[in-house]
Amino acid sequence: MRVEGKIVVITGSGYGIGKGLAERFVTEGAKAVVISDINEELMASVAETLGMPAIACNVADPAALANLIEQTEREIGPIDLFCSNAAYGFGGPVPNTTGNQGGLDATEDDWERSWQINVMAHIRAARQLIPLMLERGGGYFLNTVSAAGLITSISGAPYTVTKHADIGWAEWIMLNYGDQGIGVSCLCPTAIATKPGQFDGNETIGLVQTPAEVAQYVVDGLDEERFLILPNPAVGGSFLKKATDYDAWLARTIARIGAMKGE
Ligand SMILES: NC(=O)c1ccc[n+]([C@@H]2O[C@H](COP(=O)([O-])OP(=O)(O)OC[C@H]3O[C@@H](n4cnc5c(N)ncnc54)[C@H](O)[C@@H]3O)[C@@H](O)[C@H]2O)c1
Repeated sequence: MRVEGKIVVITGSGYGIGKGLAERFVTEGAKAVVISDINEELMASVAETLGMPAIACNVADPAALANLIEQTEREIGPIDLFCSNAAYGFGGPVPNTTGNQGGLDATEDDWERSWQINVMAHIRAARQLIPLMLERGGGYFLNTVSAAGLITSISGAPYTVTKHADIGWAEWIMLNYGDQGIGVSCLCPTAIATKPGQFDGNETIGLVQTPAEVAQYVVDGLDEERFLILPNPAVGGSFLKKATDYDAWLARTIARIGAMKGE
């Protein structure tokens, strides 16, 4: 799928990867890129710079998410590409509620928000849009997941578990609707610096990329309608090793995470 001439919605596009995708999709000639975010100030600034419409939405709120889709379809036109990008539990402008590490100390609230924002928002968007897309012959979803959805690493538990669930949901859509014109790509990056110097001084983090670099992988991945978009090629190798020898992969990953934590 080519973004040129398409109507696109991106949640969490006031900042970071979502903003980088919006900038690139506009350059690619999208007909409209709806900038959507819980943070109305960030959203308005990106929308104004790009000359694109903005619709505020907290994706954890089912009514607000439904309205984002309805209002776009009513005022702008049929959505060709819906990007579920907003997430909870990664820091950035909306940090987790308690500042804990997302381990056994993660609160019920952290788990609930992670399910609502990282998983249910993807499910609700697809549940509302797939019937409309089927009627008009097809449509596409780009879900920003994470390498943490394929291979557990240093991220917190609610984040890791919910990102894994995203892959299952996207696979389910493909298996049930992939032959009827519906497509899904799961974007699974590793470390993306959304602020200058974000990962500076962290020698164990590995490849650090920018939102603009991620956007290049996304444009190429969408073009080929690839299910997995992996900006860091090492992720594919690790995923393969996990599939072929889970126990060896676990042992190596335990050692690697220990080194990252300075143990
Ligand atoms: N940055 C990374 O290193 C990295 C790595 C792997 C995956 N990801 C994934 O990429 C996506 C974007 O992450 P990011 O690091 O670019 O930025 P981020 O997650 O820090 O924030 C992006 C935007 O989402 C908005 N947002 C937060 N909660 C929201 C909600 N409930 N409803 C609507 N908008 C909301 C924020 O206001 C912000 O403008 C997430 O899905 C994240 O899990 C990020």
